[in-house]
Amino acid sequence: MPSVDVPVALLGYGTVGASVHRLLEEQGDEIERATGHRLRVVRALVRDADKERRFAPATGVLTTDPADVLGDSSLAIVAEVMGGVEPAGPYVLELLASGRSVVTANKQLVARRGAELFAAAASSGAQLRFEASVCAAIPVIKVLRESLVSTNVHKIVGIVNGTTNFVLSAMDEGRTYAQALAEAQELGYAEADPTDDVGGGDAAAKLAILSTVAFGSRVPLEWVAVEGIEGVTQEHVRAARALDMRVKLLARATLADGRVDARVGPAFVDVRHPLAAVEGPFNAVMLQGDAIREITLEGPGAGGIETASAVVADLVSIVGTTGTGFLQDDPVWHELERLPPGDLASPWYLRLEVEDRAGVLERLAHELASEGVSVARLVQQPVDGHATLHVVTHEAPAGRVDRALAAIRALPESRGDAIAIPVVSQRGVENLGWA
Ligand code: NAP
Ligand code: HSE
Repeated sequence: MPSVDVPVALLGYGTVGASVHRLLEEQGDEIERATGHRLRVVRALVRDADKERRFAPATGVLTTDPADVLGDSSLAIVAEVMGGVEPAGPYVLELLASGRSVVTANKQLVARRGAELFAAAASSGAQLRFEASVCAAIPVIKVLRESLVSTNVHKIVGIVNGTTNFVLSAMDEGRTYAQALAEAQELGYAEADPTDDVGGGDAAAKLAILSTVAFGSRVPLEWVAVEGIEGVTQEHVRAARALDMRVKLLARATLADGRVDARVGPAFVDVRHPLAAVEGPFNAVMLQGDAIREITLEGPGAGGIETASAVVADLVSIVGTTGTGFLQDDPVWHELERLPPGDLASPWYLRLEVEDRAGVLERLAHELASEGVSVARLVQQPVDGHATLHVVTHEAPAGRVDRALAAIRALPESRGDAIAIPVVSQRGVENLGWA
């Protein structure tokens, strides 16, 4: 199909804006093959055009004059990645009112002025998309608006601020609050003014947006009760750990008897709860609803490229649903080969039963080594006069493990069946606790 060229303007070219440009450039061929559209950043509004930039755009793209974007009607799609309510709000309003579609990563803007912005979009026929404003890379807005439209979501519990989760995780590892916050700022997770992160204001705006979308009723920011993590100390973190819990900044919204409760604040979370395991700048949102019971979405909640992925996804949704839209087409654009099933590598748990006498272990080790399967851990237990061996291997292709097991089963010293079960772990096998 012939490619459609789509000029895109950015309001802002900072951590997120530069990453949007980078993704559109580096993934441009893939996006074009999948959608038939080539999205190009042709204009970007900044405060200082002379500042040194990561992933600098071509000469002439940066401008400090808002009219270069607002007054150019050929720029039909604009991504607002500058932050703040002023002047971003009036800019976005003007764009929407004149029929231009806007993607925004700005949770404060959507939470505070969403009603007005959506009204402007509705009357001009433009689109306002805001996936990146909540939980960066996690596509929770699309899931709520499309996938869960027929379920009555009545409860949201989430970790929706990457900076505070990063800080609390770092404090759990022994770093101080100040060290951890400085690190989060350096890594580009924090807002321009990090008080919005640590004070809970960022999470509150995200919760207002999430609950508005989930409950289908506007939840004003003022309804969200907010407490930040400024009062959390090492003593709280240690006490939680001693009680098998973790301190997390939770955003919670509940629909009870048709009324809304929404709050952000520190909570002790039991280690068995899925949110306890969400660490660093990661976010997660648990949604409870009539038909779905419970769904948890987890992923990177902050960071330039992570947030840019959601901005780009919204840009693609706009071009896919307007004019030369493609979202009804067959999504297949190339042919991949199937990986032979035995080629996929994983660590393995092996259970082997053998005679308990000298030289047997050497023969087992020989069969494993012949297939290049390396042992990471081994425990031997006596059972009915035999030895049961519990083995964890380093990563090895399934086919090689199968061949090694077949050879082990054929050994005269083998007793009982030898089995292999894949090990799934976030940690390397060397660091696995032995259950
Ligand atoms: P940033 O690095 O501070 O970048 C802001 C950009 O906007 C800069 O290029 C800045 O220009 C420009 N800008 C700001 N005010 C301006 C004004 N009045 N006129 C013209 N240009 C202006 O911020 P960011 O981290 O990319 O965040 C951008 C948005 O994404 C915010 O709404 C934020 O909440 C949201 N977000 C960020 C993350 C993240 O992890 N960083 C994640 C999710 C959502 P100069 O470069 O010249 O200063
Ligand atoms: N400052 C925000 C956070 C960025 O730390 O989660 C994502 O909105």
